[in-house]
Amino acid sequence: MNSSTHDIRIDIQKLKKLPTLSYTAEKIINLTSKELTHLDELVNIIEKDPPIMSKVLGVANIVYLGLYKPITTVKDALLKIGFKTLKNIALSVSIFSLFKSSEEKEKSYMNLFKHSIATGTISQIISEKFLKEPSDENFTTGVLHDIGLFALHYAFYDQFKKIEETLTEEHSLKKAEEKILGTTHSEIGKWLAEIWGLPEIVCDVIFYHNDFPQKSIKYSKTVALVHLSNFIANQLDYYPLEVKIECPFYKERVYKILNLPDVDELILEFKEIIKEVDKL
Ligand SMILES: [Fe+2]
Repeated sequence: MNSSTHDIRIDIQKLKKLPTLSYTAEKIINLTSKELTHLDELVNIIEKDPPIMSKVLGVANIVYLGLYKPITTVKDALLKIGFKTLKNIALSVSIFSLFKSSEEKEKSYMNLFKHSIATGTISQIISEKFLKEPSDENFTTGVLHDIGLFALHYAFYDQFKKIEETLTEEHSLKKAEEKILGTTHSEIGKWLAEIWGLPEIVCDVIFYHNDFPQKSIKYSKTVALVHLSNFIANQLDYYPLEVKIECPFYKERVYKILNLPDVDELILEFKEIIKEVDKL
């Protein structure tokens, strides 16, 4: 590790340049579905922020269309997908909006954004349709798994580009990141998620999503689902980076945990649904 790499690590650890959670995102995190008044409050928070609202409706429709019929308003979304899923979508969308930056970075930002929404959507639909285990965390963990890449793209863009360039020689994102940064986007994402106070399951999935799922002691099933969904998103060309390389896929390890149709069948299943992500 050279001296400039060391400086980057210190910067990242202190999170000097990274954004703090927005007021809207904090308000959303603090809402609970226990009190009925919070249902209206969630709708109000989303409706008061039109860019967030349009993205939330777009994402809600992709998640829901994989299963049923279109959603037209925030209230409609609340009724059809429920408080928790709507809250998770709104939280994810408002977190991504923190990382939005200049026009020159727009294309690479959109790659990250689309990859993330695709992964979250695939996780959510697999859990509802195939595992028959709908869980509030599946969308959030899937959609936020690459938050470390967003952080790098936002605050350390030069290094982000260098990692992309290095990928062609290294053929592994982890190796390229370690060479340039001395750390990985999984580690950076976990630090950030912990600082923001996101749930432990989200932090764990962020940290282990590129490893085999059994590495996570408490949440191996969710890690397996996100690992698989990430792979499917990449196979369908919703790749987070400009340089396309094979991402690690621990198929046997995943299928030991999840009882699902073969991955090629799942890829076919999502081929059409996932194109909706391009409309966002
Ligand atoms: Fe990913």
